[in-house]
Amino acid sequence: MTRAHFTYRAGDEAATERLGQALAEVLPIGCVVALDGPLGAGKTRLVQAIAASCGVDRRDVVSPTFVLMHEYQGTRPIVHLDAYRLRDADEFLQLGAPETFGGANLVLIEWAERVANCLPNERLAIAISVLPDDARQFKIEALGVPYVPLIKQLRDRLSRA
Ligand SMILES: Nc1ncnc2c1ncn2[C@@H]1O[C@H](COP(=O)(O)OP(=O)(O)O)[C@@H](O)[C@H]1O
Ligand SMILES: [Mg+2]
Repeated sequence: MTRAHFTYRAGDEAATERLGQALAEVLPIGCVVALDGPLGAGKTRLVQAIAASCGVDRRDVVSPTFVLMHEYQGTRPIVHLDAYRLRDADEFLQLGAPETFGGANLVLIEWAERVANCLPNERLAIAISVLPDDARQFKIEALGVPYVPLIKQLRDRLSRA
């Protein structure tokens, strides 16, 4: 599997917002983004930033904790999944999650590691950690040939800021 990665540090939410905007600009249609990191790390916050950059009202973007799957129609269709409360990977399959992969969708999955076996091998994996000063570190890893060019595109956009 061809890989590339990029680590981004967000000292505040405005910096997370810039990452979300850059992602919205470079993510191709049909892509899958796996988001991981502890509760409160900023997975939903990043989804909000991406969705808002696609014209979605950010107030509509909340953790899909009870519905488990949300769909937003902005400038592109966004599917927002959260595996936190799933009993098991079967429930993820029963939700119809894999049917949303590809097509025109931008699919964003919180707690993706819990359903790793159900995800496409090729994806963008973002691991968020909280640093001692409360900043967030985003480790962004491109898995597979179609995702690798995104790393340079993100790096270019975010270093310009
Ligand atoms: N740089 C940052 N990026 C994202 N969230 C941040 C940042 N700094 C503080 N926060 C706060 O951290 C929390 C992240 O919550 P949320 O996105 O719901 O986490 P998760 O979905 O990972 O459980 C929010 O309350 C947000 O205001
Ligand atoms: Mg969340």
